[in-house]
Amino acid sequence: MKVNGKHYRTVWLEGTSVFMIDQTLLPFEFKIFEAKTYHESCFAIRTMITRGAGAIGAAAGFAMAQAWNNVEVNNDPDLADKARYEIESTRPTARNLFYAVERVYNAGKISFEKAVNEAQKIADENIEEARNIGKFGNELIKDGFRIQTHCNAGWLGFVDYGSALSPIYIAKNMGKNIFVYVDETRPRNQGAKLTAWELKNENIPHAIIPDNAGAYLMSKGEVDIMIVGADRVAANGDVANKIGTLEKAIVAKQYGIPFYVAAPLSTFDMETPDGGSIPIEQRDEAEVFFQEGMDTSGRIRKIWVCNPGSATLNPAFDVTPAELIKGIITDKGIIKPNQKSIAKLFE
Ligand code: MRU
Repeated sequence: MKVNGKHYRTVWLEGTSVFMIDQTLLPFEFKIFEAKTYHESCFAIRTMITRGAGAIGAAAGFAMAQAWNNVEVNNDPDLADKARYEIESTRPTARNLFYAVERVYNAGKISFEKAVNEAQKIADENIEEARNIGKFGNELIKDGFRIQTHCNAGWLGFVDYGSALSPIYIAKNMGKNIFVYVDETRPRNQGAKLTAWELKNENIPHAIIPDNAGAYLMSKGEVDIMIVGADRVAANGDVANKIGTLEKAIVAKQYGIPFYVAAPLSTFDMETPDGGSIPIEQRDEAEVFFQEGMDTSGRIRKIWVCNPGSATLNPAFDVTPAELIKGIITDKGIIKPNQKSIAKLFE
């Protein structure tokens, strides 16, 4: 995708540094973060400088490759296991992180060069997967459709194109007249800050809506389809995605609005039997207490938005049961969210 006329990937490797678009500064500032070591890449994943299942998968793969470089330079074979543990401890929910680390860990047992090639391959595959998701998902979007989405599952959340937003980009490029309702997605506002920034860059008509406005719009017949991303898809078709997704799926069912999930095969976890077995990340209460934004003089500020001294709870993801999902748009086609169709994908 292009920013100010220049093509960027969300995450990429140059030499032994991992570069990423710093998503904590968007939409107010566009800056690239350089992680020179795997520790710094872990820091970037943990603090959400880079985020979104595909992007953290790619970053984690590159981090594992950086670690294999250290193994070679320091001649310390134990370091690979230590690094793997450190990278896998950054964020627990998105399947792509574990998928990428495992592949690069195994490749690095042969050589550092193989590790780099594997990490690069994962990032490249991510682009291809997202493109295919866009192609299949576009078939669901009719001219004039109003589409609702949650969180950011665009090209910032993947290496390029995105998952849930990829069909929207293709529909727009094909000249379809579409409109996107963007859930703000508290507490970190990935919708209001990141999805809205992406859509604006692509000139796609959209409106940011408060998280609690979705049911109202659906009840008024204002939404034709809802498409969200996924952080992990269990073997039975249950889907973990950003907190708030479950509520939208329940409301969509109530009003007969087709609810779709977009996810590549690298987000499916055949070893997780159902949604109940997906680890749900509990994040810092500071994310609820404070909001960060730009004041009228152009300064980025963090302010309290809650009663100081109260307790908060901050689960980062929820699980939408398969029966609420009309279909999963994968890079191999649109499937029904059930054991049989999912198992078939991996034959
Ligand atoms: O906590 P985040 O911002 O890393 O959340 C992950 C997500 O971006 C979403 O849940 C998204 O919808 C699916 S991954 C592109």
